[in-house]
Amino acid sequence: RTVAVILAGGSGQRMGLSTPKQLLRIAGKTILEHTLSVFEEAPDIDEIFVLMNPGFLQDAAECVKKAGCAKVTAVLPGGTSRNATTQLALDALAGYPADTTNVLFHDAVRPLLSQRIIRDCVAALREHLAVDVAIPSADTIIQVDEDVIVDVPRRASLRRGQTPQGFRLATIRAAYEKAWQDDGFEATDDCSVVLRYQPGTPIYVVPGDDHNMKVTEPVDMFVADKLFQLASSDAPDLSEEQYAEALRGKTMVVFGAS
Ligand code: CTP
Repeated sequence: RTVAVILAGGSGQRMGLSTPKQLLRIAGKTILEHTLSVFEEAPDIDEIFVLMNPGFLQDAAECVKKAGCAKVTAVLPGGTSRNATTQLALDALAGYPADTTNVLFHDAVRPLLSQRIIRDCVAALREHLAVDVAIPSADTIIQVDEDVIVDVPRRASLRRGQTPQGFRLATIRAAYEKAWQDDGFEATDDCSVVLRYQPGTPIYVVPGDDHNMKVTEPVDMFVADKLFQLASSDAPDLSEEQYAEALRGKTMVVFGAS
């Protein structure tokens, strides 16, 4: 059984608005509705939990209704950090069998994820205890201390982590149990919690997609809107090569974007 947990507990400080960014509208729907629809349509997903910023639970329930999500079985308040929100989802999964339940944690603010990514994650969990989704980095990533470079890791070995991140319930549960015993525990995702607190667990990496962006800063609303236009245009189903070619010179013609 696979449960998708939609992490929507944040408040979107970097977006700078009073409404959390998961409730902003792009292409006629809230970001949360878009994200919910993708999981609702995924044949491999049996159940969906939504963990929402506690001040906006009613809005989350409305999104579930509007998106027509029959798979949503819980809309619950999130915590004060992303990891606290994950823990609250794990608490809600207390009665689920630890060895036969898979959990996919997904950032509510990545509304453009593809069915392919969900499929690949669920398939990978048949053989692996943990799975991440990542893409190569076009930028060189530098490590700094204050404002001074301390290292420039080889770019070819680096990836940019996205979500979903998938786990056998037993694996992620055990990792979080240990993590909370550690005073300095802090993380921006869930795979790093398994890496640190369940060392030796291989975390398989599935290729992500650059459309699967995290809406974070105001400019991302613009980019995401364009990507939705691209996805919904009546463009023919292009191969990856044709798509790259179209983007090189003829985007306007091929996609009919205005
Ligand atoms: N998240 C969560 N609970 C929190 C904080 C974050 O479930 N306490 C979720 C966010 O809602 C988002 C995802 O984790 O879907 C990724 O986090 P991020 O982009 O950092 O979202 P925010 O915390 O809302 O943004 P900011 O850091 O700008 O405040």
